[in-house]
Amino acid sequence: MKVDVILGLQWGDEGKGKIVDVLAPAYDIIARFQGGPNAGHTIEFNGQKHVLHTIPSGIFRHNTQNVIGNGVIIDPYIFQKEIDKLLESNINPYENLLISRKAHLILPTHRLLDACNEKAKGANKIGSTLKGIGPTYTDKTSRNGLRIGDFELEGFEIKYNNLKLLHQSTIEKMGIDVSEILLDGLDFDAYEKRWLESLQLMKRFSFINSEYFINEQLLKGKRILAEGAQGSLLDIDFGSYPFVTSSNTISAGVCTGLGIPPNKVGRVLGVFKAYCTRVGSGPFPTELHDSEGNLLREKGREFGSTTGRPRRCGWLDIPALKYTLMLNGVTDLIMMKADVLEKFETLKVCTSYKIQNDTYTELPFDMNCELTPQYEDVAGWNSSLGDVQSFQDFPEELSEFNKFIEKHIQMQIGAVSIGPDRTQTIFNENFKANFRL
Ligand code: GDP
Ligand code: IMO
Ligand code: MG
Repeated sequence: MKVDVILGLQWGDEGKGKIVDVLAPAYDIIARFQGGPNAGHTIEFNGQKHVLHTIPSGIFRHNTQNVIGNGVIIDPYIFQKEIDKLLESNINPYENLLISRKAHLILPTHRLLDACNEKAKGANKIGSTLKGIGPTYTDKTSRNGLRIGDFELEGFEIKYNNLKLLHQSTIEKMGIDVSEILLDGLDFDAYEKRWLESLQLMKRFSFINSEYFINEQLLKGKRILAEGAQGSLLDIDFGSYPFVTSSNTISAGVCTGLGIPPNKVGRVLGVFKAYCTRVGSGPFPTELHDSEGNLLREKGREFGSTTGRPRRCGWLDIPALKYTLMLNGVTDLIMMKADVLEKFETLKVCTSYKIQNDTYTELPFDMNCELTPQYEDVAGWNSSLGDVQSFQDFPEELSEFNKFIEKHIQMQIGAVSIGPDRTQTIFNENFKANFRL
């Protein structure tokens, strides 16, 4: 058996959580492999909306085991809040959630450092989610980090205090006053107290050597789906650096984030919106600053699942999509939020960029350069997709829109999402056969 992967092909928030939940019944295990509580994955069913940050999106399916892999970073306080919310909704996460001992811990001081780094950057700030992501991955690579497994060993308190002191001295040297900074509305001491209590509560879960677990389950013939967070254009290596997150969000990240060899990666499911959004700073060639952008935001309810910030909205960007299809080796393609475009008479799709007087279909090294997107018009369907049950029911213009994209990317769209609910997902026959739907 191999590990299939679902990941975002744009700047995050493509709708990965929804698709993982929809496909979860076809899998035995859902595993997160990177990122942390910067992620916000929304799942809607039975009129209820759930947002997950650290916990894999298979948690709502009773027969699915969920794994937080070694590549993920965990804030116990945020994790505990997620657990409490699940319990309120009568979901028992204690039964089917396992945590890698090698997953790194986000300390309260990592969050302070994140805030300080952003302050220090001023107008050039990344627009981070302020969850401590950058500083935690920095400590991981600089070999200072603390892992979940350390908590089971003697001397954790000493290690925690040493790292906290190191962070505090860094903050002091930065000369930034952190006394006013609130973490989830709490001052530092109150937050740290709850963080430590939440860490104790994590003992109710099984900490595992997840690389052994995943490989053993593969040998036993179990079906595993890896759930990506963020999007390929936020990848630390290939995203619009430095306006990126601090992990490898592309399919290659599955190997290091779960401990599987490259020949054990199976199907790669790429999720993209029928338009583009981005939250935080950084280049966004097709961004709209007009009423059409506002319409996308309102109709698409484009407000961050983690921070509530309004998402920047713009037209679909084919050069960017082709880039991320290439990086990920996508085998199956899912287009999200087609319903959001139903109010447009005419749609625009960016098919190339103009830089000075030359036309490019590849992303330049410096995405912040003077770059003018070149658009082609495509007729909108200007009608509701409410009654659509199959690809055959699509309005002709939507089928043409799909064909237009497919012609440019040389790949078929296998599924189209037409609303936030679990049930509002339309598959073609190939896709159904591949995923036993
Ligand atoms: P993720 O981070 O990739 O899991 O995506 P988010 O959950 O952050 O953002 C996607 C948003 O779009 C959520 O509010 C979903 O409920 C919503 N959504 C997902 N698919 C569709 C769709 O096809 N149509 C509409 N209108 N909303 C959708
Ligand atoms: P999901 O999994 C959208 C963005 C932040 C910021 C940049 C760096 O829900 O798709 P970080 O906190 O990681 O240091 O922020 O990345 N970002 C996301 N944008 N969706 C996400 O996750 C994101 N996670 C981080 O807004 O611009
Ligand atoms: Mg999200």
